[in-house]
Amino acid sequence: MALFLVYALTLLSTGSGCHHRICDCSHRILLCQESQVTEIPSDLPRNAIELRFVLTKIQVIPAGAFSGFGDLEKIEISQNDVLEEIEANVFSSLPQLYEIRIEKANKLLYINPEAFQNLPKLRYLLISNTGIKHLPAVHKIQSLQKVLLDIQDNINIRIVKENSFMGLSFESIILWLNKNGIQEIHNCAFNGTQLDELNLSDNNHLEELPNDVFRGASGPVILDISRTGIHALPSYGLENIKKLRARSTYNLKKLPSLEKLVSLMEATLTYPSHCCAFTNWRRQM
Ligand SMILES: *[C@@H]1O[C@H](CO)[C@@H](O)[C@H](O)[C@H]1NC(C)=O
Ligand SMILES: *[C@@H]1O[C@H](CO)[C@@H](O)[C@H](O)[C@H]1NC(C)=O
Repeated sequence: MALFLVYALTLLSTGSGCHHRICDCSHRILLCQESQVTEIPSDLPRNAIELRFVLTKIQVIPAGAFSGFGDLEKIEISQNDVLEEIEANVFSSLPQLYEIRIEKANKLLYINPEAFQNLPKLRYLLISNTGIKHLPAVHKIQSLQKVLLDIQDNINIRIVKENSFMGLSFESIILWLNKNGIQEIHNCAFNGTQLDELNLSDNNHLEELPNDVFRGASGPVILDISRTGIHALPSYGLENIKKLRARSTYNLKKLPSLEKLVSLMEATLTYPSHCCAFTNWRRQM
């Protein structure tokens, strides 16, 4: 009986039609792990729907590494302490890809600006705990879906320049930019986006949101500036904010005139006097 079971299991695992010399494969999900994996194997089955590289020692993800994976839906590259570079055209023209996770790769310093291109189904892009110095260039992604861009714990990202998220999606976007080293956000940073949510919490050295920072964007609808050094909200582009959170934002001593926050429904602020200003204003309505 036991023997039969082993035999049946073996049949099942080979029977799923996928087998690979170094990576584990089942139901078209490939898991390549541990230090024996030092490059992306060139013979991964092209019908894979998920590729996971965990605890590998791959130094560079070369151009075209994932080309031809027409069914691929998810890619994860995580816990790689030798990864340094992601070249151009790595996440490129993958018609079914909806999730990319790159995390715990603290030697990763460089992602080529052409790395992400033409990903019509993309919904989630995570880059967390890396050493990259710039936000990834997302303008060629052109997703047709709502996208959550989750860029957290990258302490070398200091600046958010104008038009940084233009072209990420034709739909609305959510930006989680918490706990990076962001010190400066330029005017028109969110130009060309429908910004549902902007979370900037725990960028401790961020002191200013310039007046035209939201110029050219619709939104944000939700804004979180908790545990930043921000001392004033911008004077333009607050009219869509429904939820404002500024916990332990000790420099924010003054709020803009409340007529600018016409959509506000919920506010969590640092100083109790602020919340009363809101309450009074509501009572007057
Ligand atoms: C903002 O985006 C528009 C196109 O949507 C563009 O014409 C304009 O130059 C952009 N502004 C800046 C400051 O780059
Ligand atoms: C912003 O991110 C922090 C950290 O992940 C989270 O605790 C907080 O709830 C988020 N803010 C909002 C308004 O969702």
